[in-house]
Amino acid sequence: MRTIRLRHAADFAEWRDAARTLLLGGVAPHEVDWRQSEEGLFGEEAPPPPVAPSPRVPPSFLELARAVICHGDPARHELLYRMIARLQVEPHLLSDAMDRDVVAARRLEKAVRRDAHKMTAFVRFRETPAPEGARRRFVAWFEPEHHIVARTAPFFARRFADMDWMILTPRGSASLTGETLRTSEEPAPKPDLSDPTDALWLTYYRNIFNPARLKVKAMMAEMPKKYWANLPEAALIPELIAGAPARVAAMAEQILREAPAFHARLQARAPVEPELPSQGLAGLREQARNCTRCPLHCQATQTVFGEGPDQAKLMIVGEQPGDQEDLQGRPFVGPAGQVFDDAMRAAGLDRSAAYVTNAVKHFKYELRGKRRIHQSPDAGEVEHCRWWLNQEIQLIQPRLVVAMGRTAVAALTGQTPKLADLRGRVHALDPGRAMIATVHPSYLLRLPDAAARGRETARFHEDLAAARDWLSAAG
Ligand code: URA
Repeated sequence: MRTIRLRHAADFAEWRDAARTLLLGGVAPHEVDWRQSEEGLFGEEAPPPPVAPSPRVPPSFLELARAVICHGDPARHELLYRMIARLQVEPHLLSDAMDRDVVAARRLEKAVRRDAHKMTAFVRFRETPAPEGARRRFVAWFEPEHHIVARTAPFFARRFADMDWMILTPRGSASLTGETLRTSEEPAPKPDLSDPTDALWLTYYRNIFNPARLKVKAMMAEMPKKYWANLPEAALIPELIAGAPARVAAMAEQILREAPAFHARLQARAPVEPELPSQGLAGLREQARNCTRCPLHCQATQTVFGEGPDQAKLMIVGEQPGDQEDLQGRPFVGPAGQVFDDAMRAAGLDRSAAYVTNAVKHFKYELRGKRRIHQSPDAGEVEHCRWWLNQEIQLIQPRLVVAMGRTAVAALTGQTPKLADLRGRVHALDPGRAMIATVHPSYLLRLPDAAARGRETARFHEDLAAARDWLSAAG
């Protein structure tokens, strides 16, 4: 049996060098007794790094081992040495998620990552006096479960680069002075951290606590009790939880009360809706280019206004421009536009004779990597944009409006009935104007099953054919 005495609790390089030497010397995992210096004086110091070539291990093992070494489990060195030995003959060991060693290592890795994450969230710095002209100084006390101080210190160095700080823990400390980051495994004594700004912090915390959003289970999972001792705000939590139902009831009651007196005065000062432009549709389009009625204009490339003859008998309303429409500035020119064009042709309708527009004039999306993923507009956005749609209707005076999808129906009617309840009939929109509701073309693009897509496309064509028939009957 070889007893290896490591000088550090969580020094990956020290363990790696020892493991390499043992491995190259052909020492089997069960022949090694891993110890930390303070565990006893017997045994050899970790051997010097080998000169021979290193054993081969995948980078994913190194990443795993760097985390596992920080765990407090005394068996971690042995586990990692057994794994590195096995990797020499089982290179795909890490892909076996059921393997006992892999399971054990992943469990330790997860605990270390979680502890490090909690440290980044729960360290609370207190300011300490600094000499005149020097950088401000802060100190914090934290009690990690594992040896994570050195691993987590670079996070604090990046985040709090503009101050000098020290984080003390029973498992070592880290400090930043100027640009120098230092870490040590020496247990630190708990400092006196009374701080006059604590009262301010507690007032702030009490005020940002929203009782209507309280989810006690989720909160306890995110902020486990073992961390409370060093969180000043934790003292408030029981009282805030207990008082939450009463505060929610009071908030609900307040909503029902009449608006305060100044509300009417503010409303009177609210900007008046712009007058209908005298230059007709072209003027309206020009105005809409600068629309800031809702925040969607911030991320869209441009306003995508309706297009078509200004005396069109048929108006078609979609939801909102998509990615292609946003870039080209024209409605229905992307994939949904293709489906729409095909359906118009199949129904014998001429797109160029219709006025084609959208309920919402700016593209709403979420960035995922480089892709802009469509997001449905919410009720507020539809409501803000309704002003433009109403002006388009007032100027064009179409006889028939085809609403494609629920957003279009909502924008045109102010209601949100089920499409299925509206389809197959012609509805009165306002005096002298009718509405036919149908699905949105992108609904057809989303149907995964070809048979269903065929059926639904045929129904879409029928709805547009009904619009054609209604128009020719109306003359
Ligand atoms: N979807 C819509 O609703 N409108 C467009 O212009 C394009 C896609």
